[in-house]
Amino acid sequence: MISVAIDGPAGVGKSTAAKAVAKKLGYIYVDTGALYRAIGLFASERNIGTTDAAGISAKLHEIRIKLDYLDGVQRVFLNGRDVSDDIRKPEMGMAASNVSAIPKVRDFLLDLQRDMAAGQNVVMDGRDIGTVVLPGAKVKIYLTASAEARAKRRFEEHVAKGEQVSYNDILTEIKQRDYNDMNRSIAPLKQAGDAVLIDNTGWTCKETADQIMKIIEEKTV
Ligand code: DC
Repeated sequence: MISVAIDGPAGVGKSTAAKAVAKKLGYIYVDTGALYRAIGLFASERNIGTTDAAGISAKLHEIRIKLDYLDGVQRVFLNGRDVSDDIRKPEMGMAASNVSAIPKVRDFLLDLQRDMAAGQNVVMDGRDIGTVVLPGAKVKIYLTASAEARAKRRFEEHVAKGEQVSYNDILTEIKQRDYNDMNRSIAPLKQAGDAVLIDNTGWTCKETADQIMKIIEEKTV
């Protein structure tokens, strides 16, 4: 089985690139951020604070998360309910980042992620795929860009959807999430020693996907 691990900070275009590459290769795309978002959603709906480690850890046994694919698109099920749209609400990014710092939450999601990669070729994106989830992945990419470039892309995505947002609010959130994700004590966001670094500041989505494809081709011949 071949695994491609793509890690990097929020808003860097991991999912867009990973989806394009997975499609080209005929691999399954696994968006692991969706799993943390589902737990963030669970906590919010139960009125458990997303930084309440003891409160969330005590409820993990009530959580069943499943990833399924409908027409090749990943859907996330939380206790049988399709929450794929709900987890995309803007506030779920920070909720996911908060719950992802809880060691028991990371443990809880580890086997699910590894099982996905055990039986099929995958392109998996997240924060700790190359370092923790799939340390033996054949290809590892660490994708990054300036916080300003990432905030600008997010801002433009919202504007294209007709949503009213402030660039400065988005930039502040991106910086806060970077800090959270890079400084937590367990599985922080960092480049794996054997990952290829790509800084895509100023690049188009296509340029990013093409560069990743080139690296995969080099590493899998
Ligand atoms: O990729 P995303 O924005 O959907 O991820 C949401 C949060 O989930 C992110 O800020 C940190 C956490 N996360 C993580 O800790 N490990 C992963 N492999 C994926 C996401």
